[in-house]
Amino acid sequence: PQVQSFDLVIFGGTGDLAARKLLPAMFHRFVDGQIPPSSRIIGIAREATDDAGYRAQMRKALAGDGSKAAQVEAFLQQVFYRSLDARKDNGWDDFAALLTERPDNVRVFYLSTAPDLFIDICSRLGAHRLNEGESRVVLEKPIGRDLESANQINDAVGRVFSESQTYRIDHYLGKETVQNLLALRFGNALFEPLWNAEHIDHVQITVAETLGVGNRAAYYDHAGALRDMVQNHMLQLVCMVAMEPPSSLSPDAVRDEKLKVLRSLKPIDESNAAQLTVRGQYRAGAAEGQSVPGYLEELDGAKSHTETFVALKTEIANWRWAGVPFYLRTGKRLPERVSEIVVAFKAVPHSIFDPSAGPLAHNRLVLRLQPDEGVKLWLTIKHPGPGGLRLRHVPLDMSFAEAFGVSQPDAYERLLLDVVRGNPTLFMRRDEVEAAWRWADPILEAWSASGEAPKPYTAGTWGPSASVALIERDGRTWNEDG
Ligand code: BG6
Repeated sequence: PQVQSFDLVIFGGTGDLAARKLLPAMFHRFVDGQIPPSSRIIGIAREATDDAGYRAQMRKALAGDGSKAAQVEAFLQQVFYRSLDARKDNGWDDFAALLTERPDNVRVFYLSTAPDLFIDICSRLGAHRLNEGESRVVLEKPIGRDLESANQINDAVGRVFSESQTYRIDHYLGKETVQNLLALRFGNALFEPLWNAEHIDHVQITVAETLGVGNRAAYYDHAGALRDMVQNHMLQLVCMVAMEPPSSLSPDAVRDEKLKVLRSLKPIDESNAAQLTVRGQYRAGAAEGQSVPGYLEELDGAKSHTETFVALKTEIANWRWAGVPFYLRTGKRLPERVSEIVVAFKAVPHSIFDPSAGPLAHNRLVLRLQPDEGVKLWLTIKHPGPGGLRLRHVPLDMSFAEAFGVSQPDAYERLLLDVVRGNPTLFMRRDEVEAAWRWADPILEAWSASGEAPKPYTAGTWGPSASVALIERDGRTWNEDG
């Protein structure tokens, strides 16, 4: 069904995210007939171009959907462009007039710019009273670069948009498997009784990318993997795994429970960062069969201690999780693109099998976020046939593509329409962002106080060997079984 008619205004309209994710997401919803014809998508950037020029850029961005050329053209008729500078008055009156032409459209302002522009943009939106009525603002991560700057941004945005109008997006929450975690945990009687320190040995979360930083180096070098991936996406995954059952799926019931997890993360600071964290930076190597430059070459040879890889071990200090390590790792230029959550259960308390039957492996529940979204539950069974009782470890394997035969919508498709509908369940509340920074800041401070460079790793490998040591020291290994 169609959503209510809307104007989606994308600040940073000529940027990477708009071209790679936001416009394609809206296009797919358009093809599915969900976008009313009176809706508009308005790209905003400083670049001096016009509707035709912007449509030409977006036509290219949508070119992957070649067979749908006619649909692309129809879609582009709903796409517009205005050149605006957040720091200058020029053009803002006309822009406001454009929006007030359609007073009944829900207004969504998507801020996909450097966070230091959020404040200027919001105050101009406020000055033109574009925050009134059915008007929402979407803040792309990272919100700030530490707690203090996040507070400044949230305060400034909050002077113009109320908390209920503010959607802090974390696109990992829009991924199918992440939402599936809710269904799996709270729709089955099977898991919840085992979902605690008594039965779970550890949890590991990997978000591996083959891409390097490419043309995002200017942004990335000021962020690094902890700010870019861990403070937001990975902590949100931790929350979905670890939170208590919310009393309902209402936005605040879910977010209250996530907040408690974030506040219960054990601190990592100067006293223990060296034991609990590993930072890496890629050097030249190979990715997908091609040789690729190192991170510093992508920065044009500049010096940088920015990490492109992080592995760390954290714990959630509450009754349910006391003593259960959560190992997280993420990096650019790793050997494959794979994101997964592994819940590793404890061994059975006593083995009745002869050692010659083979080792008794732990049960593992593997939630694959991408690619090939699915769920695997690794079980021990008897190897079929005569030849005695030999044990085998095999997965109960559910691939969404095979089971449902449809390709999964991109996270942004779901989340953008949730904003139009006014449903903030899968968005971060201000207090969540603050709690996440409160945990991340001391790690960043410990790293900068140590003055140590990140450990080099060759592009196309699984990061510095210290990351393997981090988990193997505890007698565990990173999941390699898929
Ligand atoms: C973004 C990060 O939030 O997530 C990028 O800024 C990263 O650096 C991207 O590449 C990963 O998203 P996905 O959906 O491709 O896993």
